[in-house]
Amino acid sequence: MKLIPLALSLILILFLVACEQPSGNAPADHTGINGGVAHKPGFNDPMKNCVSCHGSDLRGGSAGVSCFACHAKKWS
Ligand code: HEC
Ligand code: HEC
Repeated sequence: MKLIPLALSLILILFLVACEQPSGNAPADHTGINGGVAHKPGFNDPMKNCVSCHGSDLRGGSAGVSCFACHAKKWS
C-alpha cells in the first residue's frame, strides 16, 4: 500500500502550487490582494503602472483582463 502516501503528497503539492497564486492567471508579481483578487502593486495609479499590459484605456490590452470587468470606476 505505497500508493496512499504517494497520493497524499500529490494532493499536498497541488494544494501548495494552487496557493502560490491568489486567483485567476495573474502573474506572480501581482502580489497586491484586493478582495481576493491579485492586483499588481501600484494599483492606485493605474494610468501609470498598469496601462503597459492592461491597455491604454485599461480595457484589456495584451493582458486581456479589463479593469472595468470588476470596477465601475472609470480611470482617466
Ligand atoms: C507586465 C504586464 C502587466 C502589468 C504591468 C500589469 N498586469 Fe495585471 N495582469 C497581467 C496578466 C498577463 C494577467 C493575466 C491575464 C489572464 O488572466 O490571462 C493580469 C491579470 C490581472 C488581474 C486579474 C487577476 C485575477 O485573478 O483575475 C488584475 C486584477 C490585474 N492584473 C491588475 C493589475 C494592476 C492593478 C496593474 C497595475 C498596478 C497591473 N495588473 C499591471 C499582466 C500585467
Ligand atoms: C477580477 C476582478 C477584478 C479586476 C479584473 C480588477 N479588480 Fe481591482 N479590485 C477588485 C476587488 C474585488 C477589489 C476590492 C474591493 C474594492 O475595493 O472594490 C479591488 C480593489 C481595487 C483598488 C483599491 C480600492 C478601490 O476600489 O479603489 C484599486 C485601485 C483597483 N482595484 C484597481 C484595479 C485596476 C487598475 C485594475 C485593472 C488593471 C483592476 N483593479 C482590475 C477586483 C478586480
